[in-house]
Amino acid sequence: MNKIVIAIDGYSGCGKSSTAKAVAKDLGYTYIDTGAMYRAATLHFLNNYLSPANPHDVEKALKTLDISFHLNPESQLQETYLNGLHVDDEIRTMRVTSKVSEIAAVPAVRKDLVAQQQRLAKKKGVVMDGRDVGSVVFPEAELKIFMSANLNTRAERRQAELLEKGEMVPLEDIKSNLAERDRIDSTRSEGPLIKVADAIEIDTSHITFAEQVGQIVQKAREIIEKESSYAGKH
Ligand code: DC
Repeated sequence: MNKIVIAIDGYSGCGKSSTAKAVAKDLGYTYIDTGAMYRAATLHFLNNYLSPANPHDVEKALKTLDISFHLNPESQLQETYLNGLHVDDEIRTMRVTSKVSEIAAVPAVRKDLVAQQQRLAKKKGVVMDGRDVGSVVFPEAELKIFMSANLNTRAERRQAELLEKGEMVPLEDIKSNLAERDRIDSTRSEGPLIKVADAIEIDTSHITFAEQVGQIVQKAREIIEKESSYAGKH
């Protein structure tokens, strides 16, 4: 069977990561969370008191930035490491979340992380989620999904997620953070969040998690089959 690249882009908090993870598991593909990479880069800036507005600081940050993913053999979950430390919990706190769009808007940061993402997906058989995967990282991806959901639904889901981790954040704060991130992510000059013409849009406001995963997996299987039978004939 031929392997494909599946790009899942969309607004903050509409369930891209959990959907991408489930799709990857179903297909036996590797999941790559590009948002985790921007979050880890943000934590690196914060921990080292580096300013994204200062070009020397940006250069220093990128020189000392080492992000990697490792599969935890016990939980079978993919974990994010920043300079050798497991950072999955820390990169999803509000401290990092409220800064990440600012760091992700720095062109040199994007250039560095996009190159790393392209290397990670070279062998195909990956599901990658983010904002610019279908437009910049993998414009040749065989399947492109654009996920959306209304702001209220997204905020409620994010609040429940944070609460599960012991962080109680008022709904209004989450809503304004999501709206602000949408604004910065959609209007930045480099790799803005856009729905490319060949992406399939899925609005997750009123469908279940299983439905959204099922729709993507079905579409992916159709493409994989088509690609494989074409390869067999040529
Ligand atoms: O998907 P997420 O919420 O974990 O992403 C965190 C931030 O990273 C998001 O506000 C925008 C940025 N991001 C980006 O600019 N490009 C990507 N490919 C992925 C995330």
